Amino acid sequence: MTFWTPTIEGSGVARYIALADQIETAIQSGELSAGDKLPTHRKLADALEVTVGTVTRGYSEAERRGLVSAIVGSGTFVSSQQQPDIQFSHLLPSAANEIDLSLNLPIANQSAPGIRSVMQEIAADQNLFLELMGYQHERGLLRHRQWAVEWLAPRGIQSSPDNLAITCGGQHAITLSLMAATRAGDTIAAEGLAYPGLKAVASQQGLKVVGLPMDGQGVLPDAFASYCKLNHLRAIYLCPSIQNPTNASMGLARRKAIIKIAIANDVWIIEDEIPTNYLAQNPDSFVNLAPQQTFYINSHSKTVAPGLRVGYLIAPPKLIESVSASIRAQCWFAPTINVEIAQRWLDKKEAKDWLNIQKKDLYKRQELTSEILDGYDIVMTKGSFHVWLSLPEPWRAMEFQTLLAEKGVRVLSAESFAVGRFPAPQAIRICISGPSTIGQLETGLKIIRQQLEDGYDARFSVF
Ligand SMILES: Cc1ncc(COP(=O)(O)O)c(C=O)c1O
Repeated sequence: MTFWTPTIEGSGVARYIALADQIETAIQSGELSAGDKLPTHRKLADALEVTVGTVTRGYSEAERRGLVSAIVGSGTFVSSQQQPDIQFSHLLPSAANEIDLSLNLPIANQSAPGIRSVMQEIAADQNLFLELMGYQHERGLLRHRQWAVEWLAPRGIQSSPDNLAITCGGQHAITLSLMAATRAGDTIAAEGLAYPGLKAVASQQGLKVVGLPMDGQGVLPDAFASYCKLNHLRAIYLCPSIQNPTNASMGLARRKAIIKIAIANDVWIIEDEIPTNYLAQNPDSFVNLAPQQTFYINSHSKTVAPGLRVGYLIAPPKLIESVSASIRAQCWFAPTINVEIAQRWLDKKEAKDWLNIQKKDLYKRQELTSEILDGYDIVMTKGSFHVWLSLPEPWRAMEFQTLLAEKGVRVLSAESFAVGRFPAPQAIRICISGPSTIGQLETGLKIIRQQLEDGYDARFSVF
């Protein structure tokens, strides 16, 4: 098999600089793309007839320029060149004829009539209304926090109103955890491919985020431990049960291994469980296993309505006051009326019935996805809103995303989730809950299958 081999003679600069320059030129020309693995130091040294040290210096220079990342035990990969939170800011409304499989949403918001009637109920109760219009405790009304503790209990989460804060959605909870656990200039770690909202917070707060290598269970403990040995990490952000975007799902032994490393190195754990509301089985939560070390995040965005912005954050006892101070500084408290609407609605029998329908609908969508994408490399966890599709060779994920957009189907490629300079694999995330009908989802999935079957060359055959 041939591998990428640059020409570094005759450039007039030191050989290692010439090598880094060649990597840069190859990326600019498209000869090398994000995720490509560079030859090993030894192979390239032999091919170029230089010392291994020259290649090592060249790769280090390329890494310093942000062109490649070296991953211990795996090799050197071309980095994602994308701006940190560019995709996160792109919540564009989809066009009328477009099938949007790019966002994890609650299935068609049929809860709307119920929510409207809850709003009328609140407006009609003068005392309640006045209570909700006043200033409140930073972490929310006590009864709202108590309600949250009870809502979390059947999910296997032990908490108390004293270590729980009501937040303006899960995104705010991520911000608050990082504000409590870090200071500008600190480094945090995350899964190499992670929910883009994390990168948005980190860049606002002046944090460096390092993407750690993962497998089907999420972050590799060895990689986490190696990184901790060489660097001071303040926190690690994990989406351990239904990982967004890869659907990795972390077992108990792996969780314990991560906790051991985190405690030994004084690293706070941020456990984001927002995608887990339809999981068939409760995971062994980090917050139960290591309550002194863990922030836990959940919200009503995926089951009730993202527009209400209601989330919950459980904080380690040592940092709960710091969370309160951050909320106070930002907004005093999360709007109480929104919390009342979400919790009142969820208390209704009608809501419980609706959540069951939604869950069954999601499972049906998963079955349909398995049927239509049968034979392709997909990862899906029961109850997940999305599917992770590794593209067959020679597809590149960005190209595939663009091609699908031309065909009226919107998805996100792995590149959108790459943390720091982590090399993105050739894979896409397909969100199956967004389309309002199963029929629309089926059409979108069939278009995806068709492109895969037509093969890579089909798109060039029109010349
Ligand atoms: C893993 C993860 N965390 C956090 C969020 C943000 O949730 P919220 O809408 O509650 O802010 C999302 C939204 O998609 C998510 O997927």
